[in-house]
Amino acid sequence: MFIGLDLGTSGLKGVVIDDAQAILAEAVAPLEVQRPQDGWSEQKPADWLTAAEEVMDALRAAVDLSRVKAIGLSGHMHGATLLDSAGEVLRPCILWNDTRSHEEAAALDADPRFREITGNIVFPGFTAPKLSWVKKNEPKIFGQVAKVLLPKDYLRLWLTGEAVAEMSDAAGTAWLDVAKRDWSDDLLAATDLSREQMPRLVEGSEPSGKLRAELASRWGLGANVVIAGGGGDNAASAVGVGVVKPGQAFVSLGTSGVLFAASDAYQPDAASAVHTFCHALPGTWHQMGVILAAADAMNWFARVLGSPAAALTQDLGPLETPGRPLFLPYLGGERTPHNDSAVRGAFLYLDHATDRPAMVRSVLEGVTFAIRDSFDALEGTGTKIDRLLAVGGGTRSDYWVKAIATALDCAVDLPVSGDYGGAFGAARLAIMAGTDAGPEIASTPHIARTIEPDRSLTGAFSEAHARYRAAYQALKPLA
Ligand code: XUL
Repeated sequence: MFIGLDLGTSGLKGVVIDDAQAILAEAVAPLEVQRPQDGWSEQKPADWLTAAEEVMDALRAAVDLSRVKAIGLSGHMHGATLLDSAGEVLRPCILWNDTRSHEEAAALDADPRFREITGNIVFPGFTAPKLSWVKKNEPKIFGQVAKVLLPKDYLRLWLTGEAVAEMSDAAGTAWLDVAKRDWSDDLLAATDLSREQMPRLVEGSEPSGKLRAELASRWGLGANVVIAGGGGDNAASAVGVGVVKPGQAFVSLGTSGVLFAASDAYQPDAASAVHTFCHALPGTWHQMGVILAAADAMNWFARVLGSPAAALTQDLGPLETPGRPLFLPYLGGERTPHNDSAVRGAFLYLDHATDRPAMVRSVLEGVTFAIRDSFDALEGTGTKIDRLLAVGGGTRSDYWVKAIATALDCAVDLPVSGDYGGAFGAARLAIMAGTDAGPEIASTPHIARTIEPDRSLTGAFSEAHARYRAAYQALKPLA
């Protein structure tokens, strides 16, 4: 028996699986985000521990946990959890979607060593610029920082008593030498920090410590329960859907959108705004394009119209010629390919005939074109994607999935319904850390349906995508 815990932005989720990976129990505890100022996004680390206790209590009530061998962790990436020398939290954690450090990010990004060593742009959401912001604005706190932990690694500290990070999440700090899978002393020094302030590094599928005896007895677990390294939420989800080898990829249509491809080589292209991170398995990397508003764009439009998103999309018929009207989904700026926190969304080419279904279609198409941008950026680095698995709430719209298949000219597989989030992937990493099993246990889910591209419309989608690209360039100076 194994447990996966996923510290998500809006809730902490736990799953218990048996040795055959069947789900025995699931539980979720909600979490809130505090936004004390415009662009700020914070959580109190103490709330994560309360949520973890709630989830473990619920799992324990559902199944006897005495046969649990290992626990895996997944979590939202990039957050800065700052601890003093006594292990006390110094300030609320600054989260992945907090943009206060955009100036510090640009300043670090201008130092060529960051892109050279990390393979990535220093995005405002990443961890290093957050520490530069703290140094400038809260110097007393900066002076007390003894350890910087990523969110799920703070949970690990509580579970095991050890400060440990794993490669996939560490790659999103802007301090990791992503090719060598080690902290970069140069980059740490560039932000006035040192290796002593960083946790020890392990691979996601390796043990990182043992569950503290006090917690084990509180939850009815045995002695020697291994805590696996785990993964950042995207890498852990990839393990959950079996995207672990070159050529395998998935698109996730959640609040944000992610196009994720596994790779056995480090092949960065920072300028494209593709994220190149270590995967949660040794000797593997991954690349991803991150779209800040995916299902969120449709949810926004549904709110404006006062209708549930599902009701708006279910009435759409077969795929139509795209591009008029044209929607740009940059409601909160964009990461890939623009790294632009100032850009905002737009509708273009409205006319007298534009009706509600046409606008709904254009919203789905706009996000589809954003995914095509990420697809092109990934292909530009040499990553080949021949077919895609699609997960997330947005996949309930056949129109949307057909549009993606056509815009990418790539078959899209829809798995049978199930749980494909970070918690399940973390539980798989727990199997690898707690037994002799290796990456072969990260199988792909059964496929319910495959959506093929509509070849009569691939040309029209390419042409509309070119206009979408031009529209961003035209609107950029007006932001
Ligand atoms: C990835 C990213 C998000 C967070 C929150 O770079 O910022 O996916 O991990 O889920």
